Amino acid sequence: MKKEKIILTGDRPTGRLHIGHYVGSLRRRVELQNSGIYNKVFVFIADAQALTDNMDNPEKVRQNVIEVALDYLACGLDPSKTTMFIQSQIPELTELSFYYMDLVTVSRLQRNPTVKTEIQMRNFETSIPVGFFTYPISQAADITAFRATTVPVGEDQEPMIEQTREIVRRFNFIYGDTLVEPEILLPDNAACLRLPGTDGQAKMSKSLGNCIYLSDPADEVEKKIRSMYTDPTHLRVSDPGKLEGNTVFTYLDAFCRDEHFQRYLPDYANLQELKDHYTRGGLGDVKVKRLLAAVMQETLEPIRTRRKEFEKDIPAIYDILKQGCEKARETASKTLDDVRKAMKINYFDDEALIAEQSARFARK
Ligand code: TRP
Repeated sequence: MKKEKIILTGDRPTGRLHIGHYVGSLRRRVELQNSGIYNKVFVFIADAQALTDNMDNPEKVRQNVIEVALDYLACGLDPSKTTMFIQSQIPELTELSFYYMDLVTVSRLQRNPTVKTEIQMRNFETSIPVGFFTYPISQAADITAFRATTVPVGEDQEPMIEQTREIVRRFNFIYGDTLVEPEILLPDNAACLRLPGTDGQAKMSKSLGNCIYLSDPADEVEKKIRSMYTDPTHLRVSDPGKLEGNTVFTYLDAFCRDEHFQRYLPDYANLQELKDHYTRGGLGDVKVKRLLAAVMQETLEPIRTRRKEFEKDIPAIYDILKQGCEKARETASKTLDDVRKAMKINYFDDEALIAEQSARFARK
């Protein structure tokens, strides 16, 4: 049997999705969905994982499930090609997590760098919720339940995929070849790996107020770009400017293609020429920001328009998710059957077991 190629990825519904999500993963997902290379594509909303550090705010998670679903559809995920579902509606994932817990040590979880940082960020050091601590295990269940071969995610998810691969190897070693070992698919452009906030901070985050959301209206995007962090030593137009840490150029790296120059700034052939001029001196921030605004609006406008369309029929969105959940459960429950069989806990489906036990006791 030829191995199927299967994509799986997801997001925690803790807010609307921003352009960091877009260049880091969403854009790529839509391309993968439309590439025809993959037999199946699963994209899901990780509400149960979001609850591991928002247990006291279920309303926030509930509100953002629909926001994320709208962002998915607006970006071009197509329910006829991609199964979209909500994590908590797939109970098979919880059962898989429970069995995988036997294959992971506490010290291994403590070494997970992403979890480590998150614990510090949330001041959980002295009171880590067990569910939060073990979410990498549940993430392994998300991935393996759908036999995903390819997981397109941002760089911060690398430790989760590595942990999943270890669980798969250990499971298959102990119980026989059952689970599929996934591969991570990182963005191919360095600027997209981790898009900084508009203030130049390492990461976009809602609490820092430095995000540009996919659903931001055009004038809001314009305003955010105008006040964006550049090179603080680049005071006069004639001054030479620096590119490192210059957010406007990082965003151009993530969004700009050569064709944009013909349209918006034909004096330059490509981004490299613009960069050269900037570092030489003689190019002002305003001009660069205007280009960025044009490029970003061109990218975001169709997304905003599609979102508005989808917002007109919210019950239809829930219906898409519900159908996705049903389809996802079918796949996950097949994997769970295989897992139970491999772990020898499928007592009632195993006629040989019953016969064997009868014979054993008859001999006594
Ligand atoms: N941890 C991911 C995030 O924070 C969300 C997620 C949960 C996920 N399970 C996953 C991503 C499985 C990829 C595969 O965005």
